[in-house]
Amino acid sequence: MSANENTEILDAVLKAEKFLKQQKDLYGNLLYKQNIKKEEEQMSKKNSIEAWQTTSTLEELNSKICNCQKCSLGATRTKFVFGVGKPNADIMLIGEAPGADEDAKGEPFVGRAGQLLTKILEAVKINREDVFICNILKCRPPNNRAPLPEEMQTCEPYLKKQIEIIKPKIILCLGRVSAQAILQTKETLTNLREKVHHYENIPLMVTFHPAALLRNPNWKKPTWEDVQNFRKLYDSLSKKN
Ligand code: URA
Ligand code: URA
Repeated sequence: MSANENTEILDAVLKAEKFLKQQKDLYGNLLYKQNIKKEEEQMSKKNSIEAWQTTSTLEELNSKICNCQKCSLGATRTKFVFGVGKPNADIMLIGEAPGADEDAKGEPFVGRAGQLLTKILEAVKINREDVFICNILKCRPPNNRAPLPEEMQTCEPYLKKQIEIIKPKIILCLGRVSAQAILQTKETLTNLREKVHHYENIPLMVTFHPAALLRNPNWKKPTWEDVQNFRKLYDSLSKKN
């Protein structure tokens, strides 16, 4: 390279440097605005898909949601009550919300209502260990007050993901609150019972909540009839597959 060529190159570099400095003084970070915008778009995309939404096992889902603070129940719960049972259960039972016993243990239906539920299942030869049991709300409402609509709305995506992973053949809703939430209806329990509904093509039946039977034993007989019908429907589905 000749001395002349060297000088030309150095000259060009100095000019370029001067030009860049001018641009920087004039526009500052605006120079990079396009990139900043792209980064912001990528961040918001990332944020709109939450980590739990892409999980494919119950264990992973539980680990990703068990510290949930999306509603105020996160502050008052003792334990997050994800649900228990077989990960590939044919039958899924869905209640309302954890009570005091469930909140303490971190497991659904372990109190008095739960013990009655176990008996109801035994009556139609369904083993509690063979099903998956959970609730609409994963956290206990203080003093067992009824779940608020916004709490149910916030929590329901977790239940939907559980159903998506478990892929049950049949669902039993325990009580009006659970059925109304999943079926997106305001129908009374009376109108929801004794029918086969569907959630995402999965047959779904509705019966009384076991806690309601503890308050009003007159509802025991119709519950027994409901679960007999539920068992029959389950048997008919099992034969097909
Ligand atoms: N009632 C419910 O709805 N769920 C429980 O887990 C316990 C009581
Ligand atoms: N009312 C309810 O909300 N649930 C029942 O199971 C019975 C009466």
